[in-house]
Amino acid sequence: MMNIVVDAYGRRFKTLRVSLLNKCNFNCTYCTEGEGQVKETSTGITAEDLLQRIAHLHQHLQLETVRLTGGEPTLYHQLVEVIAGIQSIGIKTISITTNGFLLEKLAAPMKDAGLQNINVSLDAMNEDLFFAMSKRNNVQRIINGILAAQKAGLHVKINAVIMKGINESQILPLVDFAFANNITIRFLEVMAMGHLHHQPQQYFYSQEALLQTIASKYSFTKIDRNGGATANYWQTTDGHTFGIIANESAPFCSDCNRLRLDSNGHIFGCLSSNHPIKINNWNNHQEVTEKLQEALLQKQPIKFTGSSLSMLQIGG
Ligand code: 5AD
Ligand code: SF4
Repeated sequence: MMNIVVDAYGRRFKTLRVSLLNKCNFNCTYCTEGEGQVKETSTGITAEDLLQRIAHLHQHLQLETVRLTGGEPTLYHQLVEVIAGIQSIGIKTISITTNGFLLEKLAAPMKDAGLQNINVSLDAMNEDLFFAMSKRNNVQRIINGILAAQKAGLHVKINAVIMKGINESQILPLVDFAFANNITIRFLEVMAMGHLHHQPQQYFYSQEALLQTIASKYSFTKIDRNGGATANYWQTTDGHTFGIIANESAPFCSDCNRLRLDSNGHIFGCLSSNHPIKINNWNNHQEVTEKLQEALLQKQPIKFTGSSLSMLQIGG
């Protein structure tokens, strides 16, 4: 066992978020600004290299969770093999974040390969607003994916980004859908990432506004936050749970335990850092330890500042 890298706030890396590729089949307005739609699914890193890197990081950090992201991770051609490989490395919890477009067919094979948790992004129930958010049609296809994931035995959550002036009318319909299917839904405040780095305010819909809207239909009480969690959670009087990821109004940097590995094999300690850290020799324990320490220093102590990188590149 290696020495575990810890910072002055007692933070260490327990969760690794792996961006499998920086390509996506959606064009979410808060993410790509009309770019990014790519048909072919190429990537800078092979499944074998990726699994080796994850194994090295696990050796150093005793990771508890690996979460697969993208771009859109379901476009990665060896996704099921990667999940199985991560399980063989000995990672306890394997999760994925997806836009759900290709989920219906993949849900069962991913579950069989060792996947446990899935977060599906769904920003609207109304088809026109779904298109306004993602520049894609077919809400029903995402819903079918969500139901297939549940049926396969995956633990499902829905992520919905709310943008002021675009899809705030969808908050209650999304909550209704989630609760009717016993799914936890989490709303995200728009983050100052990518092309929104210097202008998130125009779309900003706050945690407080979200709570007010949900309160117009549901009664709820706050649930205590677990250390390291990205969301605040509330429980309704009839036992349903919803969360809010409030990067702007209630940042959770002080106990953040996430490390990111991008699709070029570089590590990032923080979503707010633009600076990829390159590890030259993954077999060199000294170098990997030093680079992990450098990554931990990238973490913002209290405030999320955003970055000019979009989630397409760094994976959320
Ligand atoms: N602000 C908030 N959420 C974002 N996502 C991507 N970009 C942004 C942004 N700028 C969301 C996606 C997905 C998760 C990985 O991050 O919708 O749910
Ligand atoms: Fe694709 Fe996710 Fe970006 Fe939407 S937010 S365009 S699904 S990478």
